[in-house]
Amino acid sequence: MRKKIVAGNWKMNILPSKTNELINLLMSANTDKIDVVYCTPFVDLHTAISSTKNTNIKIGAQNAHFEDKGAYTGEISFDMLNDIGISYCIIGHSERRTYFNDTDECINKKLIKAFDKNITPILCVGENLDLRNAGTYKDFIKNQLVSDLKTISKEKIASMVIAYEPIWAIGTGLAATSDQAEEICSFIRSCIKELYDADTAENIRIQYGGSVNGSNAKELFSKPNIDGGLIGGASLKEDFLKIVEAAL
Ligand code: 13P
Repeated sequence: MRKKIVAGNWKMNILPSKTNELINLLMSANTDKIDVVYCTPFVDLHTAISSTKNTNIKIGAQNAHFEDKGAYTGEISFDMLNDIGISYCIIGHSERRTYFNDTDECINKKLIKAFDKNITPILCVGENLDLRNAGTYKDFIKNQLVSDLKTISKEKIASMVIAYEPIWAIGTGLAATSDQAEEICSFIRSCIKELYDADTAENIRIQYGGSVNGSNAKELFSKPNIDGGLIGGASLKEDFLKIVEAAL
């Protein structure tokens, strides 16, 4: 039985001076049976770590650099994240791929480093509307998985999380239907089976992300291959607690 995982991706939205307020609002998230993670901006991480200290809520970052240290002005390493007690890191979000040129090669390096530094990656994959309309989205997602996971062992990937985030559903209010999301989460599992083995595929956790809210979460999470969600807009408000409840 896979443990469900619901993660909030706060993106570039919360001022450090407002972090405590949001954490307090979401403090009652039920973590008895599922993993709950808040992926905050870098400058909010310290506050988020200390204000969730006595809870089971985990804190994650939204990106990191694959080098450990050095002359990389403006970057943050996985070593640094590990040093302040970060457990998760989103890697390869479509916004990073689109606006910051995170290529599959770079995402692969980031994944390797995250495993090295004991940070659980949440790897995002997903197609844009053109690929969906062209009907080539499965090939595209499989290529992303093959490139992003290159040379990574099955022992390592067992602990990771993969998030299926169709770009056309992100921030649009147009979530994939539960059948569309299930189709691809199940397809991702079959790719993992092909790349690794049946056990690894059975155990890896696969989330859906894209316009998830308190009203559609239950239906999405009831699907056999959807093990929770990666939540953007709704992770910044009380609705997030309903999404967590939907995963219980
Ligand atoms: P929304 O939930 O705002 O659509 O964002 C999804 C997302 O990009 C999470 O990483």
